[in-house]
Order: sequence, then structure tokens, then C-alpha cells
Amino acid sequence: MKFEESNILQHLPKQFFASLVKKVNAKIATGADVINLGQGNPDQPTPEFIVEAMQKQTADPQNHKYAQFRGDPELKKAAAAFYQREYGVSLDPETEIAILGGSKIGLVELPFAILNPGDMMLLPDPGYPDYLSGVALAQVKLELMRLTEANHFLPDYDTLDKQVVEDAKLMYLNYPNNPTGAVATPAFYQKTVDFAKANGIGVVQDFAYGAIGFDGHRPVSFLQTPGAKDVGIEMDTFSKSFNMAGWRIGFAAGNADMIEAINLIQDHLFVSVFPAIQKAAITALNSDQQSVHDLVALYEKRRNQFFKAARAIGWEPYPSGGSFYAWMPVPKGYTSEAFADLLLDKAAVAVAPGNGFGDGGEGFIRVGLLIDEPRFTEACQRIAKLHLFD
Ligand SMILES: Cc1ncc(COP(=O)(O)O)c(C=O)c1O
Repeated sequence: MKFEESNILQHLPKQFFASLVKKVNAKIATGADVINLGQGNPDQPTPEFIVEAMQKQTADPQNHKYAQFRGDPELKKAAAAFYQREYGVSLDPETEIAILGGSKIGLVELPFAILNPGDMMLLPDPGYPDYLSGVALAQVKLELMRLTEANHFLPDYDTLDKQVVEDAKLMYLNYPNNPTGAVATPAFYQKTVDFAKANGIGVVQDFAYGAIGFDGHRPVSFLQTPGAKDVGIEMDTFSKSFNMAGWRIGFAAGNADMIEAINLIQDHLFVSVFPAIQKAAITALNSDQQSVHDLVALYEKRRNQFFKAARAIGWEPYPSGGSFYAWMPVPKGYTSEAFADLLLDKAAVAVAPGNGFGDGGEGFIRVGLLIDEPRFTEACQRIAKLHLFD
């Protein structure tokens, strides 16, 4: 018997970065010493105190049973306490927090949970490609909000088409931003809440890199904005702030209707996350956050090292304020992809071409700050030999 994929599956977006991985692997297979700046996978281990908590919890038979539906109430309490302590935001743990098996799940399932086929949602361009999976699964219409350097890679709501604004039911934001490293301001979030309220648009702020802000500036939470909970939620993950990308744990916080919709769809799809992981996540949230501060310091050091090496060869970066990415302009005469191909081919340096994040990413490449510092200097020295920025 042969089974066809459903129409929905056939309309899933192509995984752009699968072709990048293929190219990088082909280069490595030639024996080249590839410096891989193309990935977004945290390179550091999970802090030891979290691993130890996990080891203990894994041995506890209580944690071998089905997890509680809708997640461990203690984790929800810890998430609410975290928001109160870190951002001064009050949340009801039971109605305003939903536990996620990684924030990607929440981001992809939410359109399906609160929109109907044919409804319209707004996504940032450039943006995290996996948002598009949610669009395809929910069979909703998509309009893009162009992020430009001139507007600090924040959407300019005034430039959106009137009809689009009228039709849109949901929008996604992501600050600190992947891929640009841009950060949002309280004023921008206030504008967002006002815009969302005036036009009946739900807001999802993807806070995956929420812990990672540079130069002494801690990224603000969308939920700190007066009225934010009326219009939307923030998606949080342990993947980046605690190097727990493989553990698959995160949470959504904010608007109770959206949280209920997430919980309801998850009642039907999952039995929540392995209880031991949820317990270890409590340990992470309740910690003094020193491991997070140390990690941010490491990324800032790497960013500074890379910026210094890039500037030394005449390559001027966009001044990122957070996340673990650098957003670098492509030299004249190249597309993002042609430039990325050239760097891989001639310098054995892998980077992510900006157009993989949407047309709005054309003209840039993304560098991940996820390798040891000396390799950044080496990468720039190799690139210097191509005389692209002289
Ligand atoms: C902007 C953004 N949002 C969400 C995610 C997904 O993170 P998680 O591991 O929580 O699914 C990523 C992962 O790279 C990301 O870059």
C-alpha cells in the first residue's frame, strides 16, 4: 500500500537550512577545516546544578508515571514567581502559564488553536522560519511585516496595508531578534499593545533570547507593558538561557484565553513533558541566575571579539543588542546566498544566508556566536584573504 501525504503536509514550508547543512557537510567531507558560524545550537553544556537536579529526579519513581495534564503546578508557580522577580509582572500560575515541550511547539500550535482556516496572521520578515510551519498547519493566510535596518529591525505598523490591518487576527514578534540581534524598547511594546487593541490583533512575543542582552541592557519583557496581557502572550524557553535545547522545555505566559487554547490543544496532543525535566526546570528558574549572567558574559565577549575581527577587515556589523547572533551585511555585487556559498567554498567559513529568513533578510548573513573566541579571528582572517571589503 502507498500512502500519500495530506494536503496540509504537502504545503509545509521547505526546510531552507537543510540545504545549508548539506553544503557544509559536503565541504567537511573534502577534508576542509570548516569554521561553522551557520548554526543556532547552543554550544555550552547545561549548568551542572540543573543536570544534578535532573539526575536525582530521574531516579525518583514518582517521575516515571504519566505527567500531570497541563504540566506540573509547581513549575507554573516557579514560572510566575520568575516573572514577578525578574520583570515585576504578576501572573496567575494556573490560568496564565502553559507548559510547553519547547517553545517551538507553542509557536507552531497556537495558530491552529486560536485561528480558523483562511484567517490572517502577520509574521516578521526576516524571521524565524519555523513560524511558517504554524501558518501551513492552521491553513491561515500570511502577510509579512518587513523589518528594516532603518527602523532598527522593528515592524513599522504605519506602513502596513489598511486592509491587512483590518483582516489580521494574530501577529508574531521576536525580541531579542533572530536573526538580526535587534532588541525592542518599552515604547515599541506600548505602540504594539495600542495597535493590537485598536485593531483586534492578538500578539505573540517570542522571548527565546530573553535572557541575552548586551552592554548592560537587559531585554525587557513584552508583559511589562501596561495592557499586554489583554492582547497577548510571551513564549519562553529554557533552550538558550540554560543551554537546555535538547531537553525540550519552555512555557507560554500571559493572556488567559490564549493560554487556555494552548492547554486545550495540548490535552489532545501530549501528556505534558517528562516530570523529571519539569522538576529540573523549576531548579533552573529558582536559581540565583548566576549561570545565566555568566553565559551572557561569554556571548558578549564572543560578540566583541567577532566585531573587532570583522571591523579590522572593513566589515561593519549591525550593532546587535541581544541574542547570540551577529547580522552582517553582504558586500556589493553578491546576494546573501552567493556570498555564503563563496565563504564556504573559498574560506571554509559557514554562515547562514539572510534570505533563508525571508526576502527581508536579503543583503545580510547571520553569524552564530557559538564557537570559541579564537576561531572568530581565524574566520575573519580567512575572509580577509578574499579582499571583499578592501
Ligand atoms: C526565535 C526562536 N524562537 C523559538 C525557538 C525554538 O526554541 P525551543 O528550543 O524552545 O523550541 C528558536 C530556536 O532556535 C528561535 O531561534
